[in-house]
Amino acid sequence: MLKNNNFEEITFERKSVRVYDESVKISNEEMLEMIQEASIAPSSVNMQPWRFVVVESDEAKAKLKPLIRFNTRQNDSSSAMVLIFGDMMCHEYGEEIYDQAVAEGKMPQEVRDQQLAAIIPHYEKLTKQEMNDVVKIDASLAAMQFMLVARAHGYDTNPIGGFEADQLAEAFDLDKERYVPVMILSVGKAAEQGYTSVRLPAEKITTFK
Ligand SMILES: Cc1cc2nc3c(=O)[nH]c(=O)nc-3n(C[C@H](O)[C@H](O)[C@H](O)COP(=O)(O)O)c2cc1C
Repeated sequence: MLKNNNFEEITFERKSVRVYDESVKISNEEMLEMIQEASIAPSSVNMQPWRFVVVESDEAKAKLKPLIRFNTRQNDSSSAMVLIFGDMMCHEYGEEIYDQAVAEGKMPQEVRDQQLAAIIPHYEKLTKQEMNDVVKIDASLAAMQFMLVARAHGYDTNPIGGFEADQLAEAFDLDKERYVPVMILSVGKAAEQGYTSVRLPAEKITTFK
């Protein structure tokens, strides 16, 4: 259930929050709801390569702590640290995703057949670097959506890129060849305001041709 539906408040008043109310827990049910809502983000050929590990127990947070450099305040105080990985073998879910679309009457069978026949061989041929780029772009969109969804649920987040990317998957029992770390999001009830940051003017970062 969304608690806030005010687009301006959710989007334009989002700031990175790095200290949270330690007494606030987010139920697994609500966390799954937020992840489901974040998954409405678009992805390349709808392959949805984002995967989430919700680090919420003291034990798992202790395991994460040495891997997140200077970001320990977020780890210590947040309701959870949401690790977002990109699945380099996401196309293994291709049939499941496209079959679901057919079953729900959202795609004709012939379209499913044609599209999968094109997509799967294309994905299988991508180089490691190309697939890495695909899953990181897609998972980053889900990360952004999660940050806004969290605000709609009354929480705040901080996107975190400062972590030991070469160790994160294995530390949480994932195959590091398959799951590439994209971003960590701390999430919880704000105990400290984020600081206001600035943006370059649109005129400076845009060209019209
Ligand atoms: C990919 C990415 C990585 C980031 N890594 C960190 C980080 O490791 N630690 C941190 O405190 N903030 C991190 N940030 C937050 C940025 O500093 C912050 O988004 C930026 O200064 C703008 O502020 P705002 O989020 O309050 O609008 C990261 C943001 C992004 C998008």
